[in-house]
Amino acid sequence: MKFFVDTANIDQIQEARALGILDGVTTNPSLMAKEGITGQDNIYEHYANICDIVNGPVSAEVISTDFDGIVQEGRELASIRSNIYVKVPMIKEGVKAIKQLSDEGIRINCTLVFSSAQALLAAKAGAAIVSPFIGRVDDTGHDGVQLIEQIVQIFDTYGYETEVLAASVRSPLHIPQTAQAGADIATCPFQTINDLFYHPLTDIGLEKFLNDYKKVNG
Ligand code: E4P
Repeated sequence: MKFFVDTANIDQIQEARALGILDGVTTNPSLMAKEGITGQDNIYEHYANICDIVNGPVSAEVISTDFDGIVQEGRELASIRSNIYVKVPMIKEGVKAIKQLSDEGIRINCTLVFSSAQALLAAKAGAAIVSPFIGRVDDTGHDGVQLIEQIVQIFDTYGYETEVLAASVRSPLHIPQTAQAGADIATCPFQTINDLFYHPLTDIGLEKFLNDYKKVNG
């Protein structure tokens, strides 16, 4: 399973890359706003900076919600760097734009997916990635990991090459769960990636090994 970091923070992206396990980056307008990046020129420049750090897909989201606007914005975003995946929301105009942009060879990450039917529509339109928001599904009292299982099963049954990206990951537990469910990618906040490393028995075990070594080696 590929690991993406879900942030627009340059320091976090650099730190995640230094770990040697980073495959890509996802951003969204909320994450860009959190970094204080405003105005189209600055936003596009920030995407370029992220792309130059990461050797893998970088998702950049459109703001437009009409077909013409999404297509125009999608083309602009895709021209920033070759590793940009254009993030398009799961709305009717978005699906039409996914078809158009995918036909032009632009890779699309269909975002705000909350059902297997929506994932199927995105795949049929040619999206390279679909992003079910599992944390937000959990928030509504439904099972986000089960949604991943359903989408993976449908894509396998019909041979869709669209990758399933588990988004809105909220806890370290989501990672093995989505991996087991067959997700191709999980995108996590930087803190969640850090949390994955920790197990108390690892720390206790390491301390004992080092103490035992010191006892006999000084
Ligand atoms: C990533 O592609 C999504 O935009 C992100 O994971 C959403 O996460 P949130 O539900 O924590 O905002």
